[in-house]
Amino acid sequence: MTSVIIATSLGKHYAQGASSIRALDGVDLTVRRGEFVSIMGPRGSGKSTLLHILGGLERPTAGSLRVADIDICGLSDNELARFRRRNIGFIFQFFNLIPALTVAENVALPLLLDGARYACLRDRVEPLLEMFSLGDRAGCMPCELLAHEIQRVAIARALVMSPDLILADEPTARLDSRSGGEVLAYLRRVREDRGVTIILVTHDLGAASCADRVVILRDGHIESDAPIRRLSRRL
Ligand SMILES: Nc1ncnc2c1ncn2[C@@H]1O[C@H](COP(=O)(O)OP(=O)(O)OP(=O)(O)O)[C@@H](O)[C@H]1O
Ligand SMILES: [Mg+2]
Repeated sequence: MTSVIIATSLGKHYAQGASSIRALDGVDLTVRRGEFVSIMGPRGSGKSTLLHILGGLERPTAGSLRVADIDICGLSDNELARFRRRNIGFIFQFFNLIPALTVAENVALPLLLDGARYACLRDRVEPLLEMFSLGDRAGCMPCELLAHEIQRVAIARALVMSPDLILADEPTARLDSRSGGEVLAYLRRVREDRGVTIILVTHDLGAASCADRVVILRDGHIESDAPIRRLSRRL
């Protein structure tokens, strides 16, 4: 199986007066295509920083990074934005829907930003709305939706470009356990149906155990990286 992520000695240092904050410090991580990896660790351990760098939202200050066979550190800002749009689906804790757009328009947004013509949108968006049981909500505004519908819109939007990689930062943190379980079930289904690689940051061991493998960060470095079977035996 090929690797979708090869990160070597990744660092992210923020200057603070004469010293620096080492949000990430020498992270080596390889993720195979189709793998489901959870990232856990205490607050401030660097989880979001790592996810943002893997997705090209931030640049590392040290190390090298290949994502989907591209050396993304070597891309210009415009190239990186295009790469991100086409290859990565993000799901954030607050889901970040655009309030002035309908459900269908929110899902279509990455396609529109990528220059797709309006006429092509329906073929891509409708199957996703069906997959997430949102067919009858296509014309609704986000403020009309229930919390569990909003999360499904966010996942559908993350999938609309058929990305290689889904990066989710604590997508269940603000949900009750039933809605959180639904999000995780959808992520697992997306992985099974489409072979998408998923990296999930979470504080919840139950959520983390949906993955094949759990990476634990501490103080900006990887403290452990083990298949979920081995982690559950240790707990
Ligand atoms: N823009 C920034 N400038 C300075 N320091 C930063 C910046 N962004 C993050 N940090 C620091 O980097 C470290 C890692 O932050 P990060 O947000 O990645 O942690 P996290 O593991 O996601 O935490 P949480 O569980 O609270 O979400 C923290 O010490 C944080 O304060
Ligand atoms: Mg975080």
